[in-house]
Amino acid sequence: ELDPLPPLTPDFLRVLNRVCEQCYSDFAPDDLENGVRELILQDLESFVRRQFAGARLQLFGSSKNGFGFRQSDLDICMVLEGKETMDDFDCINIIKGLARQLKKHPGLKNILPITTAKVPIVKFYHIRTGLEGDISLYNTLALHNTRLLASYAAIDRRVKILCYIMKVFAKMCDIGDASRGSLSSYAYTLMVLFFLQQRNPPVIPVLQEIYDGKTKPEVLVDGWNVYFFDDLKTLPRHWPQYGKNTETVGELWLGLLRFYTEDFDFREHVVCIRQHARLTTFNKQWTSKYIVIEDPFDLNHNLGAGLSRRSMINFYVTFFVNCTLLSQFFCFFFMFLHFCHQ
Ligand code: GTP
Ligand code: MG
Repeated sequence: ELDPLPPLTPDFLRVLNRVCEQCYSDFAPDDLENGVRELILQDLESFVRRQFAGARLQLFGSSKNGFGFRQSDLDICMVLEGKETMDDFDCINIIKGLARQLKKHPGLKNILPITTAKVPIVKFYHIRTGLEGDISLYNTLALHNTRLLASYAAIDRRVKILCYIMKVFAKMCDIGDASRGSLSSYAYTLMVLFFLQQRNPPVIPVLQEIYDGKTKPEVLVDGWNVYFFDDLKTLPRHWPQYGKNTETVGELWLGLLRFYTEDFDFREHVVCIRQHARLTTFNKQWTSKYIVIEDPFDLNHNLGAGLSRRSMINFYVTFFVNCTLLSQFFCFFFMFLHFCHQ
C-alpha cells in the first residue's frame, strides 16, 4: 500500500512547527484588545439598562473561550436579574425592543433583529472598533460550553494553537461560514478537541468523565447536565495520562489532517467530546447526512446538521488535499500569510 504522505524530514517538521506557532502569535489578541471588549460590554450594559432595568450582559464565545481572533465577533448573552428563564414569545418581544433601543446608540450601526433563528438575536456593528456583535437572551448553555472550551484551552498551550490553526485554515479555505452552509467555528473547535482526546497518548482528557466518587455529579441547565471537572490544578492527580503526549504542534496538525481523512469514518463515527468511548451514528439514531458533531451538553444538538452537500465536498477535498500532496505547499502558504501580515 502506498503511504499518502511524503516522507517528513526533521527539517520540514521544524519549519511546519514554527509556522504553526507563528500563526498563533500573529492572530491572538493581546490584553489591550481583550480590555476593549470588556469596555464595550460595560458601555452597552449601562445603555440597555435605561430601557430594561436589571439587564445583565455577559460575553461568551471566542471573546472568552481562549480561541478569539482580533476581529472575532462579540457574542453577548443578556439576562434580566431575578428572572430565571424566559419563554420564546417574551424573548422575541424583548429582542425587538432591544433593537429599537440600540438604534438610538450613537456608537452603533446596522442594528438587525433576527427573530426567526433557533436562538433569536440582535446584530450590531460597533463603529469605532469595527467589531460586529450579537446579543442573545438566556443563552445559558452557551455560557457553560464557553467555560468548558476555556478549560481545555488552559490545560495545554498546544490546544490553543491547534484550535487557532484550524480556524485560520477554515476561514482561508472558505469552509468556515455557518451562514453559508459550512460548519461554525464552534464545530471546528469541537473537532480539534475530539482529535486531541482520541490521540494516543491523549493530549487532553475528557473533563466530563472525571469526578471524585462513584457517580457523576449532576448540574442541570435547561434539562442537560453541564457538569465537568474544572479544578485544573489537581488534574495531574486525577488523570494518569497527564503530560504523556510530547508531540510538537506541527506533528499534531498533520496528525489531525490525517485523522479526519484516514481514520475517522464520517458515516459511522460521531465527533463527541463528552466521552472517550467511540460513539456511533447508530447509537445516536441520527441518520448522518455528512458529519455528526454532538454538542457536549445539549445532546440533541447536531452541529453538522446544517452542512450542505456542496460544503461537505469542499470540506473533504480541502482536508484531503492539504493532508497529502499539498502538505508541504500548505506550509509555504502559511509562511506567505505570515509575511503579508508583517
Ligand atoms: P469566532 O467568533 O469565529 O471567533 O468563534 P466563536 O467560538 O465565538 O464561534 P461563534 O461566534 O460561531 O459562536 C459563539 C458561541 O455560541 C460558541 O462559542 C458556543 O458557545 C455557542 N454555540 C452553541 N451552539 C452553537 C451552534 O450551533 N452554532 C454556533 N455558531 N454557536 C453555538
Ligand atoms: Mg464568536
